[in-house]
Amino acid sequence: VDNGIDLAPQMGFNNWNSTHCGSQFNEAMVKGIADLFVSKGLKAAGYQYVNLDDCWALPNRDAAGNLVADPVRFPDGIKALADYVHAKGLKFGLYSSAGTHTCDVQGFPGGLGHEQQDADLWASWGVDYLKYDNCNNQGVDAQSRYKAMGDALKKTGRPILYSICEWGSTQPWSWAPSVGNSWRTTGDISDNWQSMIAIAHANQGLSTYAQPGAWNDPDMLEVGNGGMTGTEYQTHFSLWSEMAAPLMIGTDLRTAQQQTFDILTNTDVIAVDQDPLGKQGSVVSSANGLVVMSKPLADGSRAVTLTNEGSYDATVSTTVQTLGIGGASSYRVKDLWSKATSTTTGTLSATVPGHGTAMFKVTPSSPVPPPTGMNYVSDLPF
Ligand code: GLA
Repeated sequence: VDNGIDLAPQMGFNNWNSTHCGSQFNEAMVKGIADLFVSKGLKAAGYQYVNLDDCWALPNRDAAGNLVADPVRFPDGIKALADYVHAKGLKFGLYSSAGTHTCDVQGFPGGLGHEQQDADLWASWGVDYLKYDNCNNQGVDAQSRYKAMGDALKKTGRPILYSICEWGSTQPWSWAPSVGNSWRTTGDISDNWQSMIAIAHANQGLSTYAQPGAWNDPDMLEVGNGGMTGTEYQTHFSLWSEMAAPLMIGTDLRTAQQQTFDILTNTDVIAVDQDPLGKQGSVVSSANGLVVMSKPLADGSRAVTLTNEGSYDATVSTTVQTLGIGGASSYRVKDLWSKATSTTTGTLSATVPGHGTAMFKVTPSSPVPPPTGMNYVSDLPF
């Protein structure tokens, strides 16, 4: 949506994938994550939002109809927590649902019919980001529910990133680009290969709907949560970046291993996600579980993923023609994980472990001439 926020996909943290509604989800955790964003270089790498998911509120509104923070989890209240996050130069977000109640079985109060009151309260707390879920929606049309909250957020006058969490059932990509900054395209991710790669497949076909300020959201990252191998997490992070997806860290960074930080702070891969051209990559070839994606970048390069969805090592190959940048005499190639550089005149190939992804930036060393058939004078200097 054209609200001036989120021209590149949002980057940050959300507690859900690591804690759900467990007791670890509390003020100490959120402050600890904000501290680590600064001390471990995540803020410098571009991560900005520190967000709360479901279960931050009490089961009932107060006498004035306002949402109330759970005083056990958040003894100092939400405003104080937002102030803490802001003091680190970061932004703060929270969660609600476009229904009578949220999605957790305990069913905390939702925003349906309370849109302006809730939006005004959040703005007064200093909220910068709303994730708005789809549960207990009473069968009210999704577009009108999500538009009502989008309008309420705008009316507050505070810039608030609007993350639409409709799970793909009403094809939100067909209506949400004018309503929110991003929209979920699938059901919830789980911390395993099957879930992650199925979500990637569902999201890969939606590249035409993504544009600056409006992104397909294949759900938050599981990197670091322990259910996948390091190789699989590298695939997860590579594909999400190739698809210009929101990069919302979903692991408790207070207990994360160095490998998790190494994946999440790979600035070459992040730069692909955040590239100002704002294109989502798309699949350019797929056979026998070997999948090649190409993402146009602002400088005329392509970001390329070579994914081996099989279980054993395989060679994955492609050509510059297939990637959509044929015609130059040579190309610079940078491996965005190993950082090795090389050149090629046309083919790109890598041995990729089972469930692994190699990722490259491929740059024509001279401008690619216009396609043949166009009327241009070939002996003019470029
Ligand atoms: C839904 C959402 C999840 C999470 C939970 C919270 O399932 O899709 O991302 O927010 O609700 O209850």
